[in-house]
Amino acid sequence: MLLFVISLLSAQSALAAIDSPNVAFKWKQVDFDYPTTQDRWDATNSKQFIPENNIPLGLEVYGDRIFITVPRWKEGVAASLVYINKTDRQDSPILHPYPNWEAHNQNVPDPQIVSPFRMRADNCGRLWVMDTGKTNILNSSSPVVKPKLLIFNLNTDKLIRSYTIPDDQLHEDNFFANIAVEESDDCDNNFAYLADLGQPALVVYDFKNNKSWMFKHHYFNIDPLAGNMKLAGLSFQWKDGIFGLSLSDKDAEGYSTLYFHPMTSFNEFNVSTKVLKNETLSKNPQEAKDFFKLLGTRGQRSQSGASFLHKKTGVLFYSLVQLNAVLCWRTSLSNYTMESQGRVFMNDEVMVFPNDIKVDANDILWVLTDKLPIFLYDYPNFREYNFHIINATVKEAIKGTPCDTKIHVDMNIMKNITGAGGVMVRSEVYLLSLIFLVIAAAV
Ligand SMILES: *[C@@H]1O[C@H](CO)[C@@H](O)[C@H](O)[C@H]1NC(C)=O
Ligand SMILES: *[C@@H]1O[C@H](CO)[C@@H](O)[C@H](O)[C@H]1NC(C)=O
Ligand SMILES: *[C@@H]1O[C@H](CO)[C@@H](O)[C@H](O)[C@H]1NC(C)=O
Ligand SMILES: *[C@@H]1O[C@H](CO)[C@@H](O)[C@H](O)[C@H]1NC(C)=O
Ligand SMILES: *[C@@H]1O[C@H](CO)[C@@H](O)[C@H](O)[C@H]1NC(C)=O
Ligand SMILES: *[C@@H]1O[C@H](CO)[C@@H](O)[C@H](O)[C@H]1NC(C)=O
Ligand SMILES: *[C@@H]1O[C@H](CO)[C@@H](O)[C@H](O)[C@H]1NC(C)=O
Ligand SMILES: *[C@@H]1O[C@H](CO)[C@@H](O)[C@H](O)[C@H]1NC(C)=O
Repeated sequence: MLLFVISLLSAQSALAAIDSPNVAFKWKQVDFDYPTTQDRWDATNSKQFIPENNIPLGLEVYGDRIFITVPRWKEGVAASLVYINKTDRQDSPILHPYPNWEAHNQNVPDPQIVSPFRMRADNCGRLWVMDTGKTNILNSSSPVVKPKLLIFNLNTDKLIRSYTIPDDQLHEDNFFANIAVEESDDCDNNFAYLADLGQPALVVYDFKNNKSWMFKHHYFNIDPLAGNMKLAGLSFQWKDGIFGLSLSDKDAEGYSTLYFHPMTSFNEFNVSTKVLKNETLSKNPQEAKDFFKLLGTRGQRSQSGASFLHKKTGVLFYSLVQLNAVLCWRTSLSNYTMESQGRVFMNDEVMVFPNDIKVDANDILWVLTDKLPIFLYDYPNFREYNFHIINATVKEAIKGTPCDTKIHVDMNIMKNITGAGGVMVRSEVYLLSLIFLVIAAAV
């Protein structure tokens, strides 16, 4: 199985995949835009800012800004939500706190922003930020506050809503690491889906009524056989439940499909938001259970973190964290099989631990990679580049993969191999690329 995934991925590389992806920004270590050098000096001196403990993680691209989260894994995180200017010409731009420094002051009773992991912008110029409420996550005796959904107006950069997850939807193991936002034409009927990988559970937030409810399902749980991780020379175990969330375009009835997977799993699942928006159903798990479906499985070593669905093409982009790769799957294909997965980016240098994925309004695919396990379990080398933001047009990203509308086969190579022409069907392409590799290896 493992061998199969790998050979499939390699076979395809003969025809597709961007293995030297374009690096838009990269950092050895990040720095923050303090008002004055004295302020920066004071912050480092008092250990409010410990540069090596600041790890970019979540990504969102809206207008001319790229938003990044810097969760408080350890002490000394200067600001846990920041932005850079997309048109910044520097390789390693300085991070600007969002919306301002004051919002990140942890020395007040009720800080506005504590420690978000991921966020999404919507069609109405609003940034929905899922704040875990957890500081110094690696120190189990650290204080925590309740997780909150924060919504900012991106035109004014004002906080327009702060919603604390109610107690009846909170478990002591809660960890709200991901969010998807379902859009509506009138902005009022937008919904957020909040993944609690700890309990695990899915909380549905109704913007109009400023309320939420919770779904639980066995498909949110970890697969205990998928717990072992090996990457960047490290070997460790994770137990993260529901994690990746992606929403399709609306169907005829006006509902999206939510594609989801636990991190500790090899499977992909789906459910209609018609089900999730029904609060009554959330209270009746026995009735709701059959609406959640298994799409398929990807095979060993295929644990996936973040994902994002590009509505125009219906292509789902997702990370394979053990393989330093981003793959794709075309949701219009009826089969979720290994053969129907496309390899987009794979690189052992700039793609180590893809942590968030986004396609922006201009159909540009963005990926943030951050070597996270090295920060958690080892000591990073700050003389080399540790954080990367990769980008490509969706068109270029899926070219030649099963996610493209048509496979772009290099007919010359095909002719060289077979002596024939004509249009290949997908399975033949794989077979031929495998043969091609065997020939190449023999030569
Ligand atoms: C980004 O940079 C461009 C060009 O320097 C500038 O015009 C624009 O105002 C900047 N945007 C932000 C949000 O800083
Ligand atoms: C962990 O947090 C506790 C309480 O805040 C603190 O006293 C302790 O020093 C921290 N330990 C480490 C290793 O940072
Ligand atoms: C939404 O609900 C939260 C409860 O967390 C409350 O604090 C807030 O005032 C409410 N906002 C609006 C606009 O009703
Ligand atoms: C989920 O996937 C199953 C299996 O492919 C499919 O039959 C079903 O229609 C999908 N459900 C939604 C809501 O898209
Ligand atoms: C919600 O689910 C209940 C129980 O299946 C059903 O009776 C009701 O019609 C559903 N409501 C909507 C708005 O679909
Ligand atoms: C889906 O998979 C089945 C079983 O492997 C196969 O018979 C069928 O042709 C596949 N369909 C597509 C559209 O790939
Ligand atoms: C990637 O980002 C850089 C920096 O913003 C930009 O110059 C470049 O055009 C982007 N690439 C694509 C394919 O959009
Ligand atoms: C492959 O075919 C092309 C023409 O289609 C030819 O020009 C080229 O020399 C061939 N290469 C090899 C290695 O046979």
